[in-house]
Amino acid sequence: MAGEANERRVVIRLKDVHKSFGSQQVLKGMSFDVRDGTTLGIMGPSGTGKSVLLRHVIGLMRQDSGSVQVEGQEVADLSRKDLAELRKKMGYLFQEGALINWLTVTENVALPLRENTKLPEDEILDLVHRKLELVGIPDAGEKMPSEISGGMKKRVGLARAMVTDPEIILYDEPNAGLDPEISRNINALMRELSDRLGVTSIVVEHRVECIKTVCDEVLFLDEGRAVVQAPPEEFFASDHPRLRRFLGPESA
Ligand SMILES: Nc1ncnc2c1ncn2[C@@H]1O[C@H](COP(=O)(O)OP(=O)(O)O)[C@@H](O)[C@H]1O
Ligand SMILES: [Mg+2]
Repeated sequence: MAGEANERRVVIRLKDVHKSFGSQQVLKGMSFDVRDGTTLGIMGPSGTGKSVLLRHVIGLMRQDSGSVQVEGQEVADLSRKDLAELRKKMGYLFQEGALINWLTVTENVALPLRENTKLPEDEILDLVHRKLELVGIPDAGEKMPSEISGGMKKRVGLARAMVTDPEIILYDEPNAGLDPEISRNINALMRELSDRLGVTSIVVEHRVECIKTVCDEVLFLDEGRAVVQAPPEEFFASDHPRLRRFLGPESA
């Protein structure tokens, strides 16, 4: 689909983005585009700035230089109000789950709806229930985060990221801590959101199987830059030495 995909509109565009924390340079000229309805995978060693990058896209962090655009808008320049508007279109699955401990599962998933819509209570509960069903935990609604496993928390986070039916979803390691069967379900769900609803997404992920299932393109983030970007087949066949070392011998 590469040829066709290149004619689609750019939804997320990073251009020469630099970001440091104190003397630590994390992003050193990061650039890439994500086109409408496509999924970009991001792989790279731990601590290279993958989560930092996603935080820029959703406006939780601000770059030192360069440009981060979503739907043609410069994220760092948006007013609070416009950023809130933009965020209504975006879902974010946090790497650490980020559930609120004193709220039930249902209340956690309902949060984006309560913040961003004026839907009546019964409709909110219905939408939440449908998303919990979709991620395979229809009966978990009354549980507290402390009562559920890590894998289940991940699925609650996913239900929350999807509950407003966003046009853009950022997934930060959606498979971490999930067993293979659940992982396959989650991957199939991500694929479906893209194919059926045309969601545009970025997926930070280590698992090759997930990347191959859900991504149209994959980017290797190393030393603060995108050093390889290609469709999965080409990406996993790349002979870039650092990427080869990162992937290990099995995946060749
Ligand atoms: N808010 C912050 N303040 C200072 N350093 C940070 C902050 N967020 C991330 N970092 C640092 O930036 C680097 C990249 O982090 P991160 O994006 O979380 O890596 P990963 O690629 O594993 O997701 C790490 O060294 C991390 O310690
Ligand atoms: Mg991370």
